[in-house]
Amino acid sequence: MNEAGAERLSRRWADNLTAWRIPESITSRVTESPWVLPEEVFASRAARQIAEPGGVSYERAREALGASGSVLDVGAGGGAASLPLAAWTTEVTAVDSYEPLLRGLRHRAGPLGLEPRLVLGTWPDVAPRTPVADVVVCHHVLYNVAHVEPFVAALTAHARRRVIVEITATHPLTALNPYWWHFHRLRRPAGPAAGLLIELLRALGYDVSAQHWTRPSAPEYADFKSLVEVTRRRLCLPPERAGEVAAELRVRGVSDGEPPDLGSSGVDLATIWWPGKA
Ligand SMILES: C[S@@+](CC[C@H](N)C(=O)[O-])C[C@H]1O[C@@H](n2cnc3c(N)ncnc32)[C@H](O)[C@@H]1O
Repeated sequence: MNEAGAERLSRRWADNLTAWRIPESITSRVTESPWVLPEEVFASRAARQIAEPGGVSYERAREALGASGSVLDVGAGGGAASLPLAAWTTEVTAVDSYEPLLRGLRHRAGPLGLEPRLVLGTWPDVAPRTPVADVVVCHHVLYNVAHVEPFVAALTAHARRRVIVEITATHPLTALNPYWWHFHRLRRPAGPAAGLLIELLRALGYDVSAQHWTRPSAPEYADFKSLVEVTRRRLCLPPERAGEVAAELRVRGVSDGEPPDLGSSGVDLATIWWPGKA
């Protein structure tokens, strides 16, 4: 392990994430939290990927499962990372800090013949009461994690065969940067990006492979109004400004018919994987 390099990169990753804090002068003007976890988006993402499994992360997990194996999904949300693997999964454990998402995952797993073990709590705090698995998947969580080292050490210690992480190529909130400028004249950060995470993992001594790829875009909300509501909250704007948010989304060419989520997803992705040590 290159300790000095790892420490420097680790600090850069954490500092980049801290820079996403919203100034209090803006948050104090609204009553709703801007840090929205849109259940509808995670549910539709899981349903779509169960119906049509595919992509680099899925292929790397299939490869590691071989004929069959157990799966641990950390930051599982609706189950988009683990449930598409159901046909090869002997047991699935889902960890998430938000209970409604775990309930939705259980509901979705039943028809696939799986009875998931649910662990409610924050990773890596809950790692000691989480069983190890053959394959550990963790999709779209690392941009929420300031302290990468203990988080990935616990992922690695829980995987017998392989850890597979998926994140967007750039921080997902960058999609909202032009809107922050338009509504608040606030410049938002540009980083961190997947390349920094890959560098950090290598400096921490992991034998990391990585691939950048693009997933075809798909509607993530049932209607445009839901996208407007979540975007308005994320931008710290009160309900009476929903019309302005809708207009700005349209000006910027956001699809009315196939609304994407701006802030938790994206089509340019990085899949990062390394051997487990359980
Ligand atoms: C953007 S969602 C991704 C969900 C799912 N993996 C997917 O790809 O659709 C991130 C999820 O991770 C959960 N989460 C974030 N940080 C976490 C942590 N440290 N421990 C457990 N869950 C976490 C959130 O509650 C949320 O459900």
